[in-house]
Amino acid sequence: MNSDILAPSALSNHGPHLSPIVAGAWRMAEWNVNVAQRLRWIEQCLDLGITSFDHADIYGGYTVETLFGEVLATQPSLRSRMQLVSKCGIKLVSERRPGHAIKSYDTSRAHVLASVDESLRALHTDHIDLLLIHRPDALMDPDELAETFQGLRNAGKVLHFGVSNHTPSQLALLNNSIGLATNQIELSPLHLNALNDGTLDQCLDLGIRPMIWSPLAGGRLFKADDDQAQRVRNTLEVLARQYQVSVSTVAYAWILRHPSRPVPITGSQRLEALQEAIAALSLRLSAEDWYRVWEASEGRAVA
Ligand SMILES: NC(=O)c1ccc[n+]([C@@H]2O[C@H](COP(=O)([O-])OP(=O)(O)OC[C@H]3O[C@@H](n4cnc5c(N)ncnc54)[C@H](OP(=O)(O)O)[C@@H]3O)[C@@H](O)[C@H]2O)c1
Repeated sequence: MNSDILAPSALSNHGPHLSPIVAGAWRMAEWNVNVAQRLRWIEQCLDLGITSFDHADIYGGYTVETLFGEVLATQPSLRSRMQLVSKCGIKLVSERRPGHAIKSYDTSRAHVLASVDESLRALHTDHIDLLLIHRPDALMDPDELAETFQGLRNAGKVLHFGVSNHTPSQLALLNNSIGLATNQIELSPLHLNALNDGTLDQCLDLGIRPMIWSPLAGGRLFKADDDQAQRVRNTLEVLARQYQVSVSTVAYAWILRHPSRPVPITGSQRLEALQEAIAALSLRLSAEDWYRVWEASEGRAVA
């Protein structure tokens, strides 16, 4: 494979540089793996060219950053070979956060600063490369949040900022005060909303690349038996045979075909699944192939 394809590239004019496929850590607590196995997973990712890792304070009920950080504590030299993305802004009811009475969103200065300090401690790192606001907070004060971000940047604790699951107008509100690097959103052959609600148009307009979560619909692409999933799976299987790749490689290639240059986040612990994501970087679908999948997902031809 051409090594240029794997080189980390900028999400926006401001950066950061992320690998073209990002490894998601959301499910790590479910893997029930020890430190040595977690180290092996991280090293496998790095060896494949997946150098960016996606976290959130809340993953695994506030445990995943610690699981990952235990690896960095034993192998601190790994930190300089990777980029760390994390998120804040959701408050879960958890025995690890006894102060939270109900599930809510919080983008206040106090919460964001405390959350970043907790993430840095848990991850055993002195900085986060990219911090995202996890979900839109109806009470967000964009000026206060922009000042908070600037303070974190000045302190060297966070290098870049973005949002996740924000509508175009919500992103624009904050982007007016501080330049954002990405909107991390859901997109897959089973979930097309971002194509139609202006989210990807805005990414193109602002020159920011979307990060894509659940690119395989969280595994539904393989397991679900509703009509849409069956239609999409059949279509992906035809293309997979045609291109002699796996179904998941075609699904990633379908996402990567969008001109906003999306950065998919894999959710798998398996080496083979990571390799199938990387393989998609070498597969450019034709527009007709792309619309075959769209048609299968929508259950109708284009107008
Ligand atoms: N910003 C947000 O709000 C948000 C929300 C959700 C997720 N995320 C991020 O996005 C990342 C990816 O999300 P995701 O985990 O839902 O991604 P995904 O890649 O769509 O789904 C991963 C799941 O699919 C399974 N899978 C993969 N290939 C398979 C196959 N060939 N057959 C059957 N099952 C298969 C995986 O199991 P195996 O491990 O066995 O392969 C895993 O359980 C997360 O880790 C997180 O970092 C962000």
